[in-house]
Amino acid sequence: MDPSQEQPTGRRSVAHVRDAWYVLAQSPELTDKPLARKLFGVPLVLFRDPSGAAGCVLDRCPHRMVPLSLGRVVQGQLECGYHGWQFDTAGTCRTVPGLCSGEEAKSRNVASYATREQDGFVWVWGTADQEPTDEPYRLPATDRPGYAVVRRVVDFPGSLVMTLENALDVPHTAFLHRGLFRGGREPVEIKAILTRTRHMVQAEFVGEPRPEGIAAKILSPSGGVLTHFDRFKLPSVAEVEYKLGEDSHIVTTSLCTPVEDFLTRVYAVISLKSPVPSWLVAPFIEPFAFKIFDQDAWILREQSEAIEHWGGERYQNTEIDLMGAQIWRMLRRAEGGKLDEDDEDWSREIRLRV
Ligand code: FES
Ligand SMILES: [Fe+2]
Repeated sequence: MDPSQEQPTGRRSVAHVRDAWYVLAQSPELTDKPLARKLFGVPLVLFRDPSGAAGCVLDRCPHRMVPLSLGRVVQGQLECGYHGWQFDTAGTCRTVPGLCSGEEAKSRNVASYATREQDGFVWVWGTADQEPTDEPYRLPATDRPGYAVVRRVVDFPGSLVMTLENALDVPHTAFLHRGLFRGGREPVEIKAILTRTRHMVQAEFVGEPRPEGIAAKILSPSGGVLTHFDRFKLPSVAEVEYKLGEDSHIVTTSLCTPVEDFLTRVYAVISLKSPVPSWLVAPFIEPFAFKIFDQDAWILREQSEAIEHWGGERYQNTEIDLMGAQIWRMLRRAEGGKLDEDDEDWSREIRLRV
């Protein structure tokens, strides 16, 4: 082998797009106690104010740096477990127990993060003490009549880019998920139309036969034409949409939160409609979906360990690696604040066998 192939590249595709919304919890997880979370490796703590609205502050007491999440919530204020300083959801220090002079000091405040609660998730803006410039992503199909919704939280031991690429990558499904998803027949050549706008890249697959796996058979016993879209929406959303004939529709949305550089928590939501009542189908779909997530999480752990072991990424891309390079490019541009610079919308066609 060429000796240069043995040199560690030191390359790790990690981008921190902080001016954006990320899911930090499912609504029911946030009760009357502080909830410790991480975003980009930064410890944060969530709690509810007296009205029940979610708040998020840095998980570090300004007094002696103790994690505020070790404390408790008292009448909607977060109370540090060490000396009892109390903070509201704006991060303002409201009480210093035992302090006789009543003066407030800004330096006693803790950094706070904008929050929104929607579609059953608590979203947090990734930059402290900043007004968000947009609103969180809205889930498709969750509240439409006739749809069943399955939710699942899975930790992927990989970077955000690896996780997003995995969620939107077609060629692996016949191998990693053999029998569950694709891989039961001879591959056929189909067309993928790749479209990129500033905030989204989408692959539309044209001419794909119905997958042979068991899940597809339950969804559409009679076959029918398959419509399939994969989408990445900056910076954290992967969406896989299938329509089978007129009656079956399934959208899997992965809301990906970069907990650490190589740990991504995926809040997955599967919305489905089928000719069989959806509530009947959901329990059959669940175990397949969960098995698929587990296989993906396992392979990402192996990939991460290999990157560490060999001292960085060394990838070979072909044109059927439709999404990975696009995702990485968009995240890097967003991180550098360069999204709006001379970035043309475009579309191209690729042939692949699936
Ligand atoms: S460390 Fe938090 S109040 Fe002292
Ligand atoms: Fe997968």
